[in-house]
Amino acid sequence: MSQNGRFPNTRLRRLRQNAHVRALVRETHLHAGQFVLPLFIRHGQGVKQPIASMPGHFQWSVDRLEEEIQSITELGIRSVILFGIPAQKDPLGQDAYADDGIIQSAIPVIKKAAPQLLVLSDICFCEYTDHGHCGVIHPHHHDVDNDKTLALLAKQAVSHARAGADVIAPSGSMDGMVQAIRHALDEAGFQAIPVLSYAVKYASAMYGPFRQAAEGAPQFGDRQTYQMDVANANEAIRECALDIAEGADMLMVKPAHTYLDVICRVKQTYPALPLAAYHTSGEFAMMKAAAEKGWMDERKGVMEVLTAIRRAGADFIITYYAKEAAAWLKASSM
Ligand code: PBG
Ligand code: ZN
Repeated sequence: MSQNGRFPNTRLRRLRQNAHVRALVRETHLHAGQFVLPLFIRHGQGVKQPIASMPGHFQWSVDRLEEEIQSITELGIRSVILFGIPAQKDPLGQDAYADDGIIQSAIPVIKKAAPQLLVLSDICFCEYTDHGHCGVIHPHHHDVDNDKTLALLAKQAVSHARAGADVIAPSGSMDGMVQAIRHALDEAGFQAIPVLSYAVKYASAMYGPFRQAAEGAPQFGDRQTYQMDVANANEAIRECALDIAEGADMLMVKPAHTYLDVICRVKQTYPALPLAAYHTSGEFAMMKAAAEKGWMDERKGVMEVLTAIRRAGADFIITYYAKEAAAWLKASSM
């Protein structure tokens, strides 16, 4: 109570009473430069194939990428992450490390269209193998052979770096992947290329639409032997500790919206490492579907979720809403 006994001294509403004072004391800010837009690049020519489970997203062939890059950079987005759908899939996923592979063909085209655009490349094998798993299958165990896969991940990373990738982002959840990739990049002269590790990646149902977009659903079994159990949070700290020791420059938590507690703990434990969060395809699709049904104000809902992911501790966000959010930010600043 105040001195005169009528009002409490602390009135939080003093700092909420108008937009200017709210802006003055706001703790978390969104900026288009914090968004990374995923792009799906498909073999073929003249292709702009809509992805049914992800309205507004397309599989692009390399020859049509330029128009999309143009619209991305005009919105102020500074980074993209690439996923490839090759013409040929095989047990080893050889397109992933071929000099004329789908990603190796796309990067120079992107760099020519927008030299300053940061190109992150996802390093994994599920889009390239015919069985859809994230590495080579052990002949007897019917499961991914961790250590054989490491050598292939290293080859893929070097090949993408040679094509011009700025950041290497291994997502395959293999033990030792960061060390194998760091070592190979250094050997090949790419000491300056940072590694963004998908350090904390859960075996989540939130990747469903992505698997349709990237045509990489596992043909047998699931990913629970290599991705994290959704029930675990302490284990996330172990994953990060190992990846940091192996040389990771940046960490990631994936998914994001449903793992804010994990984002918060990772950031508090390792405040000095930049932290990414992946707002995944399923999280995108849920909001998109609710918005299409008229059940949610899309703009308010999406900005709330992206703000919450940043507030929890993520420095930047990989999101399928990057273009829309950038456009909304632009409109509100005018
Ligand atoms: C490849 C990869 C996946 C995603 C990013 N990289 C699929 C998976 O692990 O199954 C998922 C992204 C999303 O759902 O948006 N390993
Ligand atoms: Zn994978």
